[in-house]
Amino acid sequence: MSDRDIMRSSVRHFQRYYSPDIGDALRMDTSTNVLGPHPAALAALSDLSDLNLNQYPSTYSDGLRQTLAEKYGLRPDNFVVGAGSDENIDIICKCFMEWQDSAVVPYPSYSLYDFFINMNGGRVIAVELDDEFQLDVDSMVKAKGKVMIMPSPNNPTGAAFREKDIVEILDRFPGIVVVDEAYGEFTGRSMIPRVDEFDNLIVIKTMSKAYALAGLRVGFSASNLKLADMMSCVKIPYSLNTLSEKAAIAALLDDEFIHRTVRMVRENKPLLEKELQEMGFQTYPTDGNFLLACSPIPHRTLVEGLKAKGVLIRDFGSKRRLENCVRMTIGTKELNDIMLEKMREVISECR
Ligand SMILES: Cc1ncc(COP(=O)(O)O)c(C=O)c1O
Repeated sequence: MSDRDIMRSSVRHFQRYYSPDIGDALRMDTSTNVLGPHPAALAALSDLSDLNLNQYPSTYSDGLRQTLAEKYGLRPDNFVVGAGSDENIDIICKCFMEWQDSAVVPYPSYSLYDFFINMNGGRVIAVELDDEFQLDVDSMVKAKGKVMIMPSPNNPTGAAFREKDIVEILDRFPGIVVVDEAYGEFTGRSMIPRVDEFDNLIVIKTMSKAYALAGLRVGFSASNLKLADMMSCVKIPYSLNTLSEKAAIAALLDDEFIHRTVRMVRENKPLLEKELQEMGFQTYPTDGNFLLACSPIPHRTLVEGLKAKGVLIRDFGSKRRLENCVRMTIGTKELNDIMLEKMREVISECR
């Protein structure tokens, strides 16, 4: 008998999520935007006098869905807004999975998929990515879950999946296929324009990464009208607050910052890769704003050593297939140089 026996069995093994002591550390651990908050969102939040904060927000974030519809050439009812795309993942599990149903995810991938699937009483079927961290289409399809969830670009490995593989899965998989485009802006591609073509495609996106609004918790899904209606009926009404909605609309109407962000990442990625390789890291190809790299010294020594010097990167080194690997955000030249300098110090202190 353990204290945890009072918990629902499907969540009894849960541990708290990553929650580092931040202080004034340089955060290169969360793949967020290092350029600071989206300026148009900040400007929108500088005057809140038009907001009726005594009233509830729009139940389904109609203003934001209208803006999304105009941006993507779809209808507002193709979109379901969430408090972060994590809420959209939760909505999908709640909406389409029965207790003990299976959901297919690639491995290695985003750890919170397992969290939401288990939390909703589902079982995770993890299907290995191939040696290049690409999809094994046959194995994914044969895994036969009710739902499949995959990020492209994949987190934490970095590479985007081939669109032809995703389309083949959409055609052959009998359940819902969720393509998580959290880092999609960095690839310049999206499956959103194709949602009406498929009866089983849901694309989810976040405003936490390129849009630089992680603190406001805004995400959304795009799908055909039928699926979107089902998910709207399940989602928690009013989950996106009035301030976040206003800021998100302003950010979506101003692409200049996104272009600048994508340019900054593209310019700095090869420089960062080269410097890391010269230090003895093995880097993996990435299409996102982060890099997975195998450390030349024990991963814990590197991550803890950097933390002591005020730089946070994310440790994946204890995970199968990511042995001794760490993930870091691709920053500006100045920020990357600080991170690299501290890495050099930790590595030389270790040897
Ligand atoms: C692949 C992937 N999906 C979803 C999320 C969650 O995004 P949000 O902040 O919108 O909940 C993340 C965050 O790191 C992610 O990496």
